[in-house]
Amino acid sequence: MEKILFVCLGNICRSPMAEAIFTHEIKSKGLGKLVSCHSVGTAGYHIGNSPDPRTLQTLENKGISFKHKAEQLEVHHLETFDTIFAMDEANLKDIEALAHRHGIENKAVLLRTLVPNTTDLNVPDPYYGGEEGFEEIYQILSECCSYYLKEWTMTM
Ligand code: 4NP
Repeated sequence: MEKILFVCLGNICRSPMAEAIFTHEIKSKGLGKLVSCHSVGTAGYHIGNSPDPRTLQTLENKGISFKHKAEQLEVHHLETFDTIFAMDEANLKDIEALAHRHGIENKAVLLRTLVPNTTDLNVPDPYYGGEEGFEEIYQILSECCSYYLKEWTMTM
């Protein structure tokens, strides 16, 4: 079982949406026994909270139902997940710093490196913006998911 971890700042917008989209696509392709996903945030502001209502509404508009409670990144996540995708450079730096403090080799990469020829490798933080920011990240994350599954099924 390949275990994927998505990491953003608050674990209420970007990384739970990535978890929901990837999980939905993985299940719809019948790969649920081979790949699993989880998400956490580098900050602890929202620990225990459900995803932002705009995240849930955007997912619902696409026919994806999802339940999650926000968690903060801890060192055990770095040890137990096979693949770690950071949403932006600040998240990646925080993951690298945590790995460094614990003498663990960093395995996190920016999620958008999955998509060839992407100039902006950050998934923009939609938290302080309007609903359209959530649709934008849905499109970005769906594209990342398509590329991930294309590559993954080619290696099988
Ligand atoms: P996320 O978005 O990292 O995509 O979950 C944010 C959520 C909350 C905050 C910032 C970004 N916040 O400052 O509370």
